[in-house]
Amino acid sequence: MTSNQSLDTLVAEAQDQLSAAVALRRRLHQRPEIGIHNPITTDALLESLEGVDLAITRHQQTSGVSALFTGSKPGPTILLRADTDALPMPEDTGLDFASTVTNTMHACGHDTHVAMLVGAAKLLANHRDEIAGRVLFMFQPGEEGYGGAEYMLDEGLLDVPALADGTPSPVTAAFALHTTSALPTGFVSTRGGSIMASSDELKITVTGKGGHASDPSKTIDPIPIACEIVQALQLMVTRRIDVFDPAVVTVARIIAGTTTNVIPETATIEGTMRAVSEATRKKVHDGVRRVAEGIASAHDAQVEVELRINYPVTKNDTNFADFALDTAGGLLGADHAFRLPNPVMGAEDFSYVLQRLPGAMMFLGATPLDVALDKAAPNHSNRVYFDEDCMRSGIAVHAGVALRHLAPG
Ligand code: NI
Repeated sequence: MTSNQSLDTLVAEAQDQLSAAVALRRRLHQRPEIGIHNPITTDALLESLEGVDLAITRHQQTSGVSALFTGSKPGPTILLRADTDALPMPEDTGLDFASTVTNTMHACGHDTHVAMLVGAAKLLANHRDEIAGRVLFMFQPGEEGYGGAEYMLDEGLLDVPALADGTPSPVTAAFALHTTSALPTGFVSTRGGSIMASSDELKITVTGKGGHASDPSKTIDPIPIACEIVQALQLMVTRRIDVFDPAVVTVARIIAGTTTNVIPETATIEGTMRAVSEATRKKVHDGVRRVAEGIASAHDAQVEVELRINYPVTKNDTNFADFALDTAGGLLGADHAFRLPNPVMGAEDFSYVLQRLPGAMMFLGATPLDVALDKAAPNHSNRVYFDEDCMRSGIAVHAGVALRHLAPG
């Protein structure tokens, strides 16, 4: 455990990093990038890290960067992560540093994540003497559906070499912050166990037999069959899935037909499936197949069920989540760090990191204190506004979690 002395000063030290963090965040906000190649972002963050004693690894398949900081004493490694990518959407915030790239916006706050992690690296570099072990800063692109974290893991992100004297320094924990407009500035929240959902997609194509709309018995009309499948999927969720281990199945798209007097040959439905445990996730996959195949078969139609498997459930380690909450409470005030009662149904590819390491993702509030939360535009909105003051708290929490985890015995 590090001395209270150094934790006490962390928020003030984070304040010292804030103006540089704001400048970097605005620079990134103006030039957002999508997908697994974010070269302009990478250049900006590496430039901001100049002067900090870090071993930098540029990843091959993506623009991902890992930066390894070594403390003054031997010990394990903690991974701190920021995602770097933006979303394909217009920005309508009216900010004077709004995006200058058409249909590209940092609407999920990943620009703040990068700026906070750079700030934390600079802050931690001033505490080298109090660090027994290493900090692995992970800057990953392609969080928004591109699986950027997996590419970095596959390229050996976690293969941290031994220290100069041969002492191993394995990665023993991972931590990430996610900025959200669902909480006020200066507040954080997390929970043990599942914190975010798995996210998979479904596409069901019903193939019948086309014909004249006036004479349906000579056809196999795929449209009512597809409608029955949509209804039955909701029945499957409410009757077959445990209410205490929930799932969401939403059909968000139906594609069929061309005009009023033609029964088409096919009807297609598409949607999303979410769950907060891998067991329920599998039940939903099985249920979607069973229901679609059973209903199509009952009506003599053919069906093709395609399930696109995306991010798994993001699962926090209970002890680490408690540790992170305790640390954040010590820094920001106990009443500013609270336990989330339920997971959030969004998905995150930090889930892949947490499949390999104990750790936690924590939400960081960024709605100004004088704005009602129910009036704040949500993450992924073209109007979302993140209060940059939140980065002071974020920098302090990143640094505090690392310092306590790596406190000399
Ligand atoms: Ni995000």
